[in-house]
Amino acid sequence: MARYRIAWLPGDGIGKDVLDAARVVLDATGIEFEYLPGDVGWEFWKKEGNALPERTVEMMKRTDACMFGAITSKPQDEAVKELNPELRDKGYRYYSPIVKLRQIFDLYTCLRPCRSYPGNPLNFRDDIDIVIFRENTEDLYSGVEFRPVPKAFYQVPGMEKVPKDAAISLKVNSPRGCERIIRSAFEYARKKQRKRVTTVLKANVVRVSDGLFLEIARKIAKEYPEIEYDNANIDTLCMWLIKRPHEYDVLVAPNLYGDIISDLCAQLVGGLGFACSANIGENYGLFEPAHGSAPKYAGMYKVNPIATILAAKLMLDYLGEEEVADRVEQAVARVLKEGKVRTYDLGGNASTLDMAKEVARYL
Ligand code: NAI
Ligand code: MG
Repeated sequence: MARYRIAWLPGDGIGKDVLDAARVVLDATGIEFEYLPGDVGWEFWKKEGNALPERTVEMMKRTDACMFGAITSKPQDEAVKELNPELRDKGYRYYSPIVKLRQIFDLYTCLRPCRSYPGNPLNFRDDIDIVIFRENTEDLYSGVEFRPVPKAFYQVPGMEKVPKDAAISLKVNSPRGCERIIRSAFEYARKKQRKRVTTVLKANVVRVSDGLFLEIARKIAKEYPEIEYDNANIDTLCMWLIKRPHEYDVLVAPNLYGDIISDLCAQLVGGLGFACSANIGENYGLFEPAHGSAPKYAGMYKVNPIATILAAKLMLDYLGEEEVADRVEQAVARVLKEGKVRTYDLGGNASTLDMAKEVARYL
């Protein structure tokens, strides 16, 4: 029997190309995986009016973790136009599968490691090693928004300042939401022997919601005396991340700030071809490259598979296969250092699978 059952969701466009590449590497680890393919993406939206069919979610519940490629998404009005004619005008609405999956499996931690591997010609510097913990379920992305503002709101003190034609999006930080992401970051720092955790906030201005995050972080930090803790303001931090990125270690942030610094840090270490992400909850983990489906390269096996191979590495970590995960990362580092096999974004002409095979060879 296979040691792990993995939900295998390539999705759209280059999602299949890069997942095929991750498979080459996973198969070379010597660990036995059973891969369970799942329907997800634009094709299923068009046919069934649901980009994430229920059968896929049910299948995922019987697996240990999920590898996810990428999906195509379009604005609501365009999406509805592409729907199967029999389903049009029936009120179907497009929902992003990845957002839905984060909710269904309560994947509250978004983990984004950003390491510059020496030899990568796209590096900003060669000595960056930042790990971002982004809260994945609340904050400004809670989805609680109003336009117009409901009348009842105006009975709340302070609301008289708010124009009647304003639009409001609520930034929701709950004690439980703050605590669990902060703890994830500190636990990770302890386990991986990282030296420092920095919260990323704007607590001097957004005093109530970011203030709560800061208050909880200060309390939790006391339980980890071996780890240095400090707090940074998001705006200043963006400046410092460009100026002295090598000085940062583990960063933990509410959803929006985490989203912003994730892309900033990704670009410091090579951009979309290198940015991987883990979505982790108490009972499940979903691993993906940060990039989208890049339709113009779909099926050409041309794009860089490293982001997805590193996502597979994060999955191995999550499954407790840390020694194998380390070997995968070392093999990636070696391929980049040697620079013999490179996809187009790195100035080469190797295919997606060539690069994966080269990583597999060094395992
Ligand atoms: P994208 O990330 O798909 O591609 C933008 C460009 O980045 C590509 O044209 C390519 O030049 C480069 N690129 C992306 N991945 C690469 C790789 N692995 N190696 C080398 N170069 C790479 O973003 P875009 O074009 O804005 O979106 C395309 C579709 O993907 C849209 O429908 C969008 O909604 C969706 N999307 C899905 C995401 C997901 O599934 N998590 C995330 C972002 C976008
Ligand atoms: Mg983003």
